Amino acid sequence: MAPPEQFTEANVAALKARFESAGQGHVFTFYNSLSDVEKESLFTQLQKIDPARINKLWEFAQNPPKEPENTVVEPLPESATASILDSKPEDLERWNNLGLELIGKGEVAVILLAGGQGTRLGSKAPKGAYNIGLSSKKSLFQIQAERILKVQELAAAKAQNKSKAQVPWYVMTSGPTRAMTEKFFKKERLAELSDEDNDARAQGKPYFGMDEKNVKIFEQGVLPCYDFNGKIMLANKGEVAVAPDGNGGIYKALQDEGVLDDMRKRGIKHVHAYCVDNCLAKVADPVFIGFSAEKQVKIATKVVRKRNATESVGLILSKNGRPDVVEYSEIDQATASAVDPKHPDVLKFRAANIVNHYYSFEYLDNMGDSVNALPPPIAKKKIPYFDVDKAEAVTNITKPNGIKLEQFVFDNFKWLELSEFACFEVKREDEFSPLKNADAPGAQDCPTTSRKDIKAQGKRWVEAAGATVKNGDEEGLEVSPLTSYVSIHIPTPHLPHQMHIKRYLTII
Ligand code: UTP
Repeated sequence: MAPPEQFTEANVAALKARFESAGQGHVFTFYNSLSDVEKESLFTQLQKIDPARINKLWEFAQNPPKEPENTVVEPLPESATASILDSKPEDLERWNNLGLELIGKGEVAVILLAGGQGTRLGSKAPKGAYNIGLSSKKSLFQIQAERILKVQELAAAKAQNKSKAQVPWYVMTSGPTRAMTEKFFKKERLAELSDEDNDARAQGKPYFGMDEKNVKIFEQGVLPCYDFNGKIMLANKGEVAVAPDGNGGIYKALQDEGVLDDMRKRGIKHVHAYCVDNCLAKVADPVFIGFSAEKQVKIATKVVRKRNATESVGLILSKNGRPDVVEYSEIDQATASAVDPKHPDVLKFRAANIVNHYYSFEYLDNMGDSVNALPPPIAKKKIPYFDVDKAEAVTNITKPNGIKLEQFVFDNFKWLELSEFACFEVKREDEFSPLKNADAPGAQDCPTTSRKDIKAQGKRWVEAAGATVKNGDEEGLEVSPLTSYVSIHIPTPHLPHQMHIKRYLTII
Protein backbone atom coordinates (compact mmCIF):
# COMPACT_ATOMS: atom_id res chain seq x y z
CA MET A 1 0.00 0.00 0.00
CA ALA A 2 1.29 3.51 -0.83
CA PRO A 3 2.50 5.51 2.19
CA PRO A 4 -0.08 8.03 3.48
CA GLU A 5 0.01 11.43 1.87
CA GLN A 6 0.01 14.73 3.75
CA PHE A 7 -3.30 16.47 4.34
CA THR A 8 -2.81 19.41 1.95
CA GLU A 9 -5.22 21.19 -0.41
CA ALA A 10 -3.42 19.80 -3.43
CA ASN A 11 -3.63 16.24 -2.15
CA VAL A 12 -7.32 16.63 -1.28
CA ALA A 13 -7.99 17.92 -4.81
CA ALA A 14 -6.12 14.98 -6.35
CA LEU A 15 -8.01 12.51 -4.19
CA LYS A 16 -11.33 14.13 -5.06
CA ALA A 17 -10.48 13.88 -8.76
CA ARG A 18 -9.78 10.17 -8.36
CA PHE A 19 -13.16 9.55 -6.73
CA GLU A 20 -14.96 11.71 -9.30
CA SER A 21 -13.42 9.92 -12.24
CA ALA A 22 -14.57 6.63 -10.71
CA GLY A 23 -18.13 8.00 -10.40
CA GLN A 24 -17.85 8.06 -6.60
CA GLY A 25 -17.36 11.83 -6.15
CA HIS A 26 -20.48 12.11 -3.95
CA VAL A 27 -18.36 11.10 -0.94
CA PHE A 28 -17.08 14.71 -0.97
CA THR A 29 -20.60 16.24 -1.03
CA PHE A 30 -20.35 17.68 2.49
CA TYR A 31 -16.60 18.21 2.59
CA ASN A 32 -16.76 22.00 2.62
CA SER A 33 -19.19 22.04 5.55
CA LEU A 34 -16.86 19.96 7.77
CA SER A 35 -14.55 21.27 10.49
CA ASP A 36 -10.81 21.04 9.79
CA VAL A 37 -10.51 17.98 12.02
CA GLU A 38 -13.40 16.27 10.23
CA LYS A 39 -11.95 17.15 6.84
CA GLU A 40 -8.64 15.56 7.74
CA SER A 41 -10.35 12.51 9.13
CA LEU A 42 -12.37 12.01 5.91
CA PHE A 43 -9.21 12.57 3.86
CA THR A 44 -7.38 9.94 5.91
CA GLN A 45 -10.19 7.43 5.49
CA LEU A 46 -10.63 7.99 1.76
CA GLN A 47 -6.92 7.76 1.14
CA LYS A 48 -7.03 4.12 2.15
CA ILE A 49 -9.76 3.41 -0.40
CA ASP A 50 -8.89 2.98 -4.06
CA PRO A 51 -12.14 3.91 -5.87
CA ALA A 52 -11.07 2.11 -9.04
CA ARG A 53 -10.54 -1.13 -7.07
CA ILE A 54 -13.84 -0.59 -5.29
CA ASN A 55 -15.63 -0.33 -8.64
CA LYS A 56 -13.80 -3.38 -9.95
CA LEU A 57 -14.87 -5.44 -6.92
CA TRP A 58 -18.42 -4.29 -7.44
CA GLU A 59 -18.33 -5.33 -11.10
CA PHE A 60 -16.78 -8.64 -10.11
CA ALA A 61 -19.49 -9.28 -7.53
CA GLN A 62 -22.24 -8.37 -10.00
CA ASN A 63 -20.82 -10.47 -12.82
CA PRO A 64 -18.89 -13.35 -11.29
CA PRO A 65 -16.94 -15.47 -13.78
CA LYS A 66 -19.32 -17.90 -15.44
CA GLU A 67 -19.20 -21.53 -14.39
CA PRO A 68 -18.52 -23.94 -17.27
CA GLU A 69 -21.72 -25.47 -18.64
CA ASN A 70 -20.95 -28.94 -17.35
CA THR A 71 -19.66 -28.54 -13.84
CA VAL A 72 -18.19 -31.79 -12.58
CA VAL A 73 -17.81 -32.31 -8.86
CA GLU A 74 -15.87 -35.23 -7.45
CA PRO A 75 -14.42 -36.03 -4.06
CA LEU A 76 -10.75 -35.08 -3.87
CA PRO A 77 -8.47 -37.88 -5.14
CA GLU A 78 -7.25 -40.30 -2.50
CA SER A 79 -3.69 -39.14 -3.09
CA ALA A 80 -4.65 -35.72 -1.70
CA THR A 81 -6.53 -36.90 1.35
CA ALA A 82 -5.93 -38.63 4.64
CA SER A 83 -8.09 -39.24 7.63
CA ILE A 84 -7.10 -39.40 11.25
CA LEU A 85 -9.90 -41.96 11.56
CA ASP A 86 -8.18 -44.62 9.51
CA SER A 87 -4.57 -43.50 9.07
CA LYS A 88 -1.90 -46.01 9.93
CA PRO A 89 -0.40 -45.46 13.38
CA GLU A 90 3.05 -45.15 11.88
CA ASP A 91 1.86 -42.37 9.55
CA LEU A 92 0.33 -40.41 12.42
CA GLU A 93 3.48 -40.90 14.44
CA ARG A 94 5.71 -39.76 11.58
CA TRP A 95 3.62 -36.63 10.86
CA ASN A 96 3.54 -35.78 14.55
CA ASN A 97 7.31 -36.11 14.83
CA LEU A 98 7.90 -34.08 11.70
CA GLY A 99 5.52 -31.35 12.90
CA LEU A 100 7.25 -31.16 16.27
CA GLU A 101 10.62 -31.05 14.55
CA LEU A 102 9.55 -28.11 12.36
CA ILE A 103 8.11 -26.30 15.39
CA GLY A 104 11.33 -27.04 17.25
CA LYS A 105 13.32 -25.40 14.47
CA GLY A 106 11.16 -22.25 14.69
CA GLU A 107 9.71 -22.75 11.20
CA VAL A 108 6.01 -22.75 12.14
CA ALA A 109 3.71 -19.76 12.68
CA VAL A 110 0.03 -19.51 13.49
CA ILE A 111 -2.51 -17.05 12.13
CA LEU A 112 -5.72 -16.54 14.03
CA LEU A 113 -8.73 -15.24 12.12
CA ALA A 114 -10.37 -12.98 14.67
CA GLY A 115 -11.69 -10.06 12.66
CA GLY A 116 -15.35 -11.11 12.67
CA GLN A 117 -17.93 -9.09 14.55
CA GLY A 118 -19.77 -12.08 15.97
CA THR A 119 -23.17 -10.60 15.22
CA ARG A 120 -25.01 -13.87 15.80
CA LEU A 121 -23.40 -14.37 19.19
CA GLY A 122 -24.30 -10.81 20.12
CA SER A 123 -21.27 -10.15 22.32
CA LYS A 124 -20.00 -6.58 22.34
CA ALA A 125 -16.43 -7.72 23.00
CA PRO A 126 -14.41 -9.74 20.46
CA LYS A 127 -15.45 -13.38 20.28
CA GLY A 128 -12.04 -14.52 21.48
CA ALA A 129 -12.63 -12.72 24.80
CA TYR A 130 -15.77 -14.78 25.39
CA ASN A 131 -15.99 -16.87 28.53
CA ILE A 132 -17.82 -20.07 27.54
CA GLY A 133 -18.55 -20.99 31.13
CA LEU A 134 -15.66 -23.27 32.05
CA SER A 135 -14.84 -23.35 35.73
CA SER A 136 -11.47 -21.73 34.95
CA LYS A 137 -13.40 -18.89 33.24
CA LYS A 138 -10.80 -18.99 30.49
CA SER A 139 -11.57 -17.07 27.33
CA LEU A 140 -11.17 -18.63 23.88
CA PHE A 141 -8.04 -16.51 23.37
CA GLN A 142 -6.52 -17.90 26.56
CA ILE A 143 -7.31 -21.52 25.71
CA GLN A 144 -5.69 -21.07 22.31
CA ALA A 145 -2.61 -19.26 23.64
CA GLU A 146 -2.09 -22.04 26.17
CA ARG A 147 -2.18 -24.64 23.41
CA ILE A 148 0.64 -22.76 21.69
CA LEU A 149 2.60 -22.66 24.94
CA LYS A 150 2.13 -26.40 25.36
CA VAL A 151 3.10 -27.34 21.83
CA GLN A 152 6.20 -25.14 22.13
CA GLU A 153 7.12 -27.06 25.26
CA LEU A 154 6.60 -30.44 23.54
CA ALA A 155 8.69 -29.35 20.56
CA ALA A 156 11.42 -27.89 22.78
CA ALA A 157 11.72 -31.20 24.59
CA LYS A 158 12.80 -32.82 21.30
CA ALA A 159 14.70 -29.88 19.81
CA GLN A 160 18.46 -29.53 19.71
CA ASN A 161 18.33 -25.78 20.22
CA LYS A 162 15.45 -25.43 22.68
CA SER A 163 15.23 -21.65 22.44
CA LYS A 164 14.19 -21.94 18.78
CA ALA A 165 10.96 -23.76 19.62
CA GLN A 166 8.77 -20.67 19.40
CA VAL A 167 5.54 -20.28 17.52
CA PRO A 168 4.65 -16.70 16.66
CA TRP A 169 0.92 -16.01 16.86
CA TYR A 170 -0.39 -13.49 14.32
CA VAL A 171 -3.82 -12.35 15.39
CA MET A 172 -5.91 -10.86 12.60
CA THR A 173 -8.39 -8.32 13.93
CA SER A 174 -10.51 -5.74 12.15
CA GLY A 175 -11.49 -2.09 12.73
CA PRO A 176 -14.27 -3.10 15.12
CA THR A 177 -12.21 -5.67 17.09
CA ARG A 178 -8.59 -4.46 17.11
CA ALA A 179 -8.49 -2.02 20.04
CA MET A 180 -10.50 -4.31 22.32
CA THR A 181 -8.36 -7.31 21.38
CA GLU A 182 -5.17 -5.40 22.16
CA LYS A 183 -6.52 -4.31 25.54
CA PHE A 184 -7.65 -7.81 26.37
CA PHE A 185 -4.24 -9.26 25.55
CA LYS A 186 -2.58 -6.65 27.75
CA LYS A 187 -4.93 -7.50 30.63
CA GLU A 188 -6.65 -4.13 30.56
CA ARG A 189 -10.31 -3.98 31.56
CA LEU A 190 -12.88 -3.89 28.79
CA ALA A 191 -16.05 -1.89 29.33
CA GLU A 192 -17.75 -4.38 27.02
CA LEU A 193 -17.14 -7.31 29.41
CA SER A 194 -18.79 -8.12 32.72
CA ASP A 195 -16.91 -7.47 35.98
CA GLU A 196 -16.64 -11.21 36.46
CA ASP A 197 -14.94 -11.69 33.09
CA ASN A 198 -12.67 -8.70 33.62
CA ASP A 199 -11.68 -10.06 37.05
CA ALA A 200 -10.95 -13.50 35.57
CA ARG A 201 -8.74 -11.96 32.92
CA ALA A 202 -7.02 -9.70 35.46
CA GLN A 203 -5.66 -12.76 37.27
CA GLY A 204 -3.81 -14.10 34.25
CA LYS A 205 -0.58 -12.94 32.67
CA PRO A 206 -0.42 -10.38 29.85
CA TYR A 207 -0.47 -12.15 26.50
CA PHE A 208 -1.65 -15.23 28.40
CA GLY A 209 1.92 -16.01 29.33
CA MET A 210 3.25 -15.92 25.78
CA ASP A 211 6.33 -13.89 25.01
CA GLU A 212 5.00 -10.50 23.90
CA LYS A 213 7.35 -10.42 20.93
CA ASN A 214 5.71 -13.59 19.61
CA VAL A 215 2.21 -12.11 19.57
CA LYS A 216 1.51 -9.79 16.65
CA ILE A 217 -1.91 -8.24 16.43
CA PHE A 218 -2.70 -6.89 12.98
CA GLU A 219 -5.73 -5.57 11.17
CA GLN A 220 -7.52 -6.73 8.06
CA GLY A 221 -8.83 -4.16 5.62
CA VAL A 222 -12.28 -2.76 5.20
CA LEU A 223 -14.42 -2.30 2.15
CA PRO A 224 -17.00 0.44 1.77
CA CYS A 225 -20.67 -0.49 1.91
CA TYR A 226 -22.49 0.05 -1.37
CA ASP A 227 -26.04 1.03 -2.14
CA PHE A 228 -27.87 -1.14 -4.63
CA ASN A 229 -26.44 0.93 -7.50
CA GLY A 230 -22.84 0.36 -6.53
CA LYS A 231 -22.38 3.82 -4.98
CA ILE A 232 -20.33 4.06 -1.80
CA MET A 233 -22.56 4.78 1.22
CA LEU A 234 -21.77 7.46 3.77
CA ALA A 235 -22.03 6.78 7.50
CA ASN A 236 -22.23 10.52 8.15
CA LYS A 237 -21.21 13.72 6.40
CA GLY A 238 -17.53 13.12 7.04
CA GLU A 239 -17.23 9.35 6.97
CA VAL A 240 -17.77 6.49 4.56
CA ALA A 241 -19.72 3.45 5.83
CA VAL A 242 -17.32 0.50 5.88
CA ALA A 243 -17.27 -3.14 6.98
CA PRO A 244 -14.40 -5.65 7.38
CA ASP A 245 -13.55 -7.25 4.03
CA GLY A 246 -14.32 -10.78 5.24
CA ASN A 247 -11.88 -13.46 6.38
CA GLY A 248 -10.55 -13.54 2.80
CA GLY A 249 -9.07 -10.13 3.65
CA ILE A 250 -6.30 -12.12 5.33
CA TYR A 251 -4.17 -12.40 2.20
CA LYS A 252 -4.04 -8.68 1.52
CA ALA A 253 -3.60 -7.87 5.21
CA LEU A 254 -0.61 -10.24 5.46
CA GLN A 255 1.07 -8.11 2.81
CA ASP A 256 -0.13 -4.67 3.91
CA GLU A 257 0.48 -5.15 7.62
CA GLY A 258 4.04 -6.46 7.35
CA VAL A 259 3.15 -9.95 8.57
CA LEU A 260 4.89 -11.69 5.67
CA ASP A 261 7.99 -9.55 6.25
CA ASP A 262 8.02 -10.56 9.89
CA MET A 263 7.59 -14.24 9.02
CA ARG A 264 10.38 -14.02 6.46
CA LYS A 265 12.76 -12.51 9.03
CA ARG A 266 11.98 -15.32 11.42
CA GLY A 267 12.53 -18.04 8.84
CA ILE A 268 8.93 -19.29 8.92
CA LYS A 269 8.17 -21.99 6.36
CA HIS A 270 4.84 -23.42 7.51
CA VAL A 271 1.70 -21.59 8.62
CA HIS A 272 -1.39 -22.84 10.42
CA ALA A 273 -4.50 -20.63 10.22
CA TYR A 274 -7.73 -21.20 12.12
CA CYS A 275 -10.87 -19.45 13.37
CA VAL A 276 -11.14 -17.89 16.80
CA ASP A 277 -14.57 -19.37 17.43
CA ASN A 278 -13.44 -23.01 17.47
CA CYS A 279 -12.76 -23.85 21.12
CA LEU A 280 -11.33 -27.25 20.12
CA ALA A 281 -8.85 -25.94 17.53
CA LYS A 282 -5.54 -27.77 17.87
CA VAL A 283 -3.44 -24.70 17.41
CA ALA A 284 -0.16 -25.38 15.53
CA ASP A 285 -1.18 -29.05 15.33
CA PRO A 286 2.06 -30.99 14.71
CA VAL A 287 0.24 -33.88 13.00
CA PHE A 288 -1.45 -31.57 10.49
CA ILE A 289 1.71 -29.56 9.90
CA GLY A 290 3.77 -32.72 9.46
CA PHE A 291 1.17 -34.20 7.08
CA SER A 292 1.04 -31.03 4.96
CA ALA A 293 4.80 -30.48 4.96
CA GLU A 294 5.44 -34.07 3.94
CA LYS A 295 2.98 -33.73 1.06
CA GLN A 296 4.72 -30.47 0.06
CA VAL A 297 1.43 -28.79 -0.77
CA LYS A 298 0.72 -25.08 -0.97
CA ILE A 299 -2.50 -25.33 1.01
CA ALA A 300 -4.03 -28.09 3.07
CA THR A 301 -7.27 -28.01 4.96
CA LYS A 302 -8.77 -29.91 7.84
CA VAL A 303 -12.28 -31.23 7.43
CA VAL A 304 -14.74 -33.10 9.59
CA ARG A 305 -17.18 -35.74 8.39
CA LYS A 306 -20.51 -34.30 7.26
CA ARG A 307 -23.12 -35.62 9.69
CA ASN A 308 -25.80 -36.42 7.13
CA ALA A 309 -26.96 -35.46 3.67
CA THR A 310 -28.89 -32.44 4.90
CA GLU A 311 -26.34 -30.86 7.22
CA SER A 312 -25.78 -27.30 6.01
CA VAL A 313 -22.02 -27.20 5.69
CA GLY A 314 -19.69 -26.25 2.86
CA LEU A 315 -17.92 -29.20 1.23
CA ILE A 316 -14.31 -29.48 0.16
CA LEU A 317 -14.13 -31.29 -3.15
CA SER A 318 -12.76 -31.22 -6.63
CA LYS A 319 -14.75 -29.04 -9.00
CA ASN A 320 -13.84 -29.20 -12.65
CA GLY A 321 -10.52 -30.71 -11.69
CA ARG A 322 -9.53 -28.15 -9.05
CA PRO A 323 -9.88 -28.02 -5.28
CA ASP A 324 -12.89 -25.96 -4.24
CA VAL A 325 -15.49 -25.32 -1.58
CA VAL A 326 -19.11 -25.77 -2.57
CA GLU A 327 -21.86 -24.49 -0.32
CA TYR A 328 -24.65 -26.88 0.63
CA SER A 329 -27.16 -24.72 -1.22
CA GLU A 330 -25.22 -25.19 -4.47
CA ILE A 331 -25.45 -28.96 -4.47
CA ASP A 332 -28.49 -30.97 -5.56
CA GLN A 333 -30.10 -33.55 -3.33
CA ALA A 334 -28.91 -36.57 -5.30
CA THR A 335 -25.29 -35.42 -5.06
CA ALA A 336 -25.66 -34.54 -1.38
CA SER A 337 -27.02 -37.97 -0.51
CA ALA A 338 -24.81 -40.09 -2.81
CA VAL A 339 -22.85 -42.75 -0.92
CA ASP A 340 -19.19 -43.58 -1.30
CA PRO A 341 -19.01 -46.65 -3.60
CA LYS A 342 -16.04 -47.99 -1.61
CA HIS A 343 -17.64 -47.37 1.80
CA PRO A 344 -21.41 -47.53 1.41
CA ASP A 345 -21.97 -46.51 5.03
CA VAL A 346 -20.60 -43.01 4.45
CA LEU A 347 -21.49 -40.14 2.15
CA LYS A 348 -19.53 -39.70 -1.06
CA PHE A 349 -19.20 -35.97 -0.40
CA ARG A 350 -18.50 -35.80 3.31
CA ALA A 351 -15.54 -33.45 3.71
CA ALA A 352 -17.11 -30.60 5.70
CA ASN A 353 -15.21 -27.32 5.63
CA ILE A 354 -14.13 -26.05 9.07
CA VAL A 355 -11.85 -23.21 7.89
CA ASN A 356 -8.67 -24.63 9.40
CA HIS A 357 -5.77 -24.39 6.98
CA TYR A 358 -2.12 -25.08 6.41
CA TYR A 359 -0.18 -22.78 4.06
CA SER A 360 3.37 -23.05 2.91
CA PHE A 361 4.97 -19.69 3.61
CA GLU A 362 6.28 -19.69 0.07
CA TYR A 363 2.74 -19.79 -1.29
CA LEU A 364 1.58 -16.85 0.84
CA ASP A 365 4.71 -14.90 0.03
CA ASN A 366 4.21 -15.32 -3.70
CA MET A 367 0.56 -14.34 -3.89
CA GLY A 368 1.40 -10.86 -5.20
CA ASP A 369 -1.50 -9.02 -6.79
CA SER A 370 -3.71 -12.09 -6.81
CA VAL A 371 -4.81 -11.05 -3.29
CA ASN A 372 -7.02 -8.48 -5.02
CA ALA A 373 -8.63 -11.04 -7.26
CA LEU A 374 -10.68 -13.02 -4.74
CA PRO A 375 -14.29 -12.84 -5.86
CA PRO A 376 -16.31 -10.99 -3.21
CA PRO A 377 -19.70 -12.52 -2.47
CA ILE A 378 -22.57 -10.12 -1.95
CA ALA A 379 -24.33 -9.84 1.40
CA LYS A 380 -27.44 -7.69 1.52
CA LYS A 381 -27.58 -6.00 4.94
CA LYS A 382 -29.38 -3.33 6.90
CA ILE A 383 -26.84 -0.51 6.96
CA PRO A 384 -27.43 2.79 8.82
CA TYR A 385 -26.31 5.56 6.46
CA PHE A 386 -26.32 9.24 5.63
CA ASP A 387 -28.67 10.15 2.81
CA VAL A 388 -26.69 12.41 0.47
CA ASP A 389 -29.77 13.85 -1.30
CA LYS A 390 -31.78 14.58 1.82
CA ALA A 391 -28.68 15.42 3.91
CA GLU A 392 -29.96 13.39 6.84
CA ALA A 393 -28.95 10.34 8.84
CA VAL A 394 -31.13 7.25 8.35
CA THR A 395 -30.92 4.83 11.26
CA ASN A 396 -34.25 3.08 11.41
CA ILE A 397 -33.66 0.49 8.70
CA THR A 398 -36.28 -2.23 8.46
CA LYS A 399 -35.11 -4.12 5.38
CA PRO A 400 -31.74 -4.58 3.67
CA ASN A 401 -30.80 -1.32 2.00
CA GLY A 402 -27.21 -1.89 1.04
CA ILE A 403 -24.50 -4.36 0.25
CA LYS A 404 -21.37 -5.55 2.00
CA LEU A 405 -18.75 -7.42 0.03
CA GLU A 406 -16.97 -10.08 2.06
CA GLN A 407 -14.20 -12.22 0.68
CA PHE A 408 -13.85 -15.82 1.82
CA VAL A 409 -10.51 -17.21 2.96
CA PHE A 410 -11.03 -20.38 0.92
CA ASP A 411 -11.91 -18.74 -2.38
CA ASN A 412 -8.33 -19.09 -3.60
CA PHE A 413 -8.36 -22.90 -3.37
CA LYS A 414 -9.60 -23.11 -6.94
CA TRP A 415 -6.45 -21.40 -8.17
CA LEU A 416 -4.43 -24.45 -7.21
CA GLU A 417 -3.82 -27.72 -9.02
CA LEU A 418 -5.13 -30.78 -7.21
CA SER A 419 -1.52 -31.83 -6.60
CA GLU A 420 -0.87 -28.60 -4.70
CA PHE A 421 -3.68 -29.17 -2.23
CA ALA A 422 -4.43 -31.73 0.48
CA CYS A 423 -7.24 -32.47 2.83
CA PHE A 424 -7.01 -34.01 6.29
CA GLU A 425 -10.09 -35.44 7.98
CA VAL A 426 -10.19 -35.10 11.75
CA LYS A 427 -12.65 -36.12 14.43
CA ARG A 428 -15.33 -33.54 15.01
CA GLU A 429 -15.60 -34.29 18.72
CA ASP A 430 -11.87 -33.66 19.10
CA GLU A 431 -11.31 -30.69 16.85
CA PHE A 432 -14.40 -28.74 15.91
CA SER A 433 -16.96 -26.95 18.02
CA PRO A 434 -17.64 -23.46 16.72
CA LEU A 435 -19.14 -20.66 18.78
CA LYS A 436 -21.59 -18.93 16.48
CA ASN A 437 -24.85 -18.36 18.34
CA ALA A 438 -26.05 -17.12 21.71
CA ASP A 439 -27.42 -19.65 24.18
CA ALA A 440 -31.11 -20.39 23.68
CA PRO A 441 -33.24 -23.50 24.15
CA GLY A 442 -32.10 -26.06 21.58
CA ALA A 443 -29.33 -23.78 20.26
CA GLN A 444 -26.33 -25.36 18.55
CA ASP A 445 -22.82 -23.94 18.15
CA CYS A 446 -23.37 -21.80 21.24
CA PRO A 447 -21.51 -21.23 24.54
CA THR A 448 -23.17 -24.30 26.09
CA THR A 449 -22.14 -26.65 23.27
CA SER A 450 -18.59 -25.22 23.32
CA ARG A 451 -18.29 -25.78 27.07
CA LYS A 452 -19.78 -29.28 26.89
CA ASP A 453 -17.49 -30.29 24.04
CA ILE A 454 -14.36 -29.17 25.93
CA LYS A 455 -15.45 -30.96 29.09
CA ALA A 456 -16.46 -34.14 27.28
CA GLN A 457 -13.06 -34.18 25.63
CA GLY A 458 -11.36 -33.64 28.99
CA LYS A 459 -13.21 -36.63 30.38
CA ARG A 460 -12.20 -38.80 27.42
CA TRP A 461 -8.58 -37.81 27.89
CA VAL A 462 -8.55 -38.53 31.58
CA GLU A 463 -10.18 -41.91 31.01
CA ALA A 464 -7.77 -42.72 28.16
CA ALA A 465 -4.95 -42.06 30.61
CA GLY A 466 -6.40 -44.70 32.90
CA ALA A 467 -8.39 -42.66 35.38
CA THR A 468 -11.96 -43.30 36.40
CA VAL A 469 -14.17 -40.25 36.67
CA LYS A 470 -16.59 -40.75 39.57
CA ASN A 471 -19.38 -38.62 40.93
CA GLY A 472 -18.21 -35.90 38.66
CA ASP A 473 -19.88 -33.16 36.78
CA GLU A 474 -22.04 -34.92 34.21
CA GLU A 475 -20.68 -32.65 31.45
CA GLY A 476 -17.17 -34.01 32.06
CA LEU A 477 -14.16 -32.06 33.19
CA GLU A 478 -11.84 -29.37 32.01
CA VAL A 479 -8.23 -30.29 31.32
CA SER A 480 -5.92 -27.31 31.10
CA PRO A 481 -4.21 -26.96 27.72
CA LEU A 482 -1.07 -26.22 29.72
CA THR A 483 -1.24 -29.78 31.02
CA SER A 484 -2.26 -31.69 27.90
CA TYR A 485 -2.19 -30.85 24.23
CA VAL A 486 -3.79 -34.00 22.96
CA SER A 487 -4.36 -37.62 23.80
CA ILE A 488 -3.26 -39.82 20.95
CA HIS A 489 -4.80 -43.25 20.90
CA ILE A 490 -2.90 -45.52 18.58
CA PRO A 491 -4.07 -49.11 18.18
CA THR A 492 -1.04 -51.37 17.80
CA PRO A 493 -1.70 -54.73 16.18
CA HIS A 494 1.24 -56.51 17.82
CA LEU A 495 0.07 -55.81 21.35
CA PRO A 496 -2.71 -57.81 22.96
CA HIS A 497 -4.54 -54.65 24.02
CA GLN A 498 -4.80 -51.28 22.48
CA MET A 499 -1.97 -49.12 23.69
CA HIS A 500 -2.63 -45.61 24.82
CA ILE A 501 0.16 -43.30 23.98
CA LYS A 502 0.09 -40.89 26.88
CA ARG A 503 3.16 -38.93 26.23
CA TYR A 504 1.33 -35.62 26.30
CA LEU A 505 -1.02 -36.46 29.06
CA THR A 506 0.46 -35.99 32.47
CA ILE A 507 -2.59 -35.14 34.45
CA ILE A 508 -2.69 -38.18 36.66
P1 UTP B 1 -17.98 -15.96 10.70
O1 UTP B 1 -18.25 -15.92 9.25
O2 UTP B 1 -18.62 -17.03 11.49
O3 UTP B 1 -18.30 -14.53 11.29
O4 UTP B 1 -16.41 -16.01 10.87
P2 UTP B 1 -18.36 -14.00 12.77
O5 UTP B 1 -18.00 -12.59 12.74
O6 UTP B 1 -17.53 -14.83 13.71
O7 UTP B 1 -19.87 -14.17 13.18
P3 UTP B 1 -21.18 -13.49 12.54
O8 UTP B 1 -21.32 -14.06 11.14
O9 UTP B 1 -20.98 -11.99 12.53
O10 UTP B 1 -22.25 -13.92 13.48
C1 UTP B 1 -15.61 -17.16 10.74
C2 UTP B 1 -14.21 -16.76 11.16
O11 UTP B 1 -13.70 -15.74 10.30
C3 UTP B 1 -13.30 -14.62 11.07
C4 UTP B 1 -14.09 -14.69 12.36
O12 UTP B 1 -13.45 -13.95 13.38
C5 UTP B 1 -14.13 -16.18 12.60
O13 UTP B 1 -12.92 -16.61 13.16
N1 UTP B 1 -13.59 -13.39 10.30
C6 UTP B 1 -14.82 -13.17 9.79
C7 UTP B 1 -12.58 -12.49 10.11
O14 UTP B 1 -11.44 -12.69 10.60
N2 UTP B 1 -12.85 -11.36 9.42
C8 UTP B 1 -14.07 -11.09 8.89
O15 UTP B 1 -14.25 -10.02 8.26
C9 UTP B 1 -15.08 -12.03 9.08
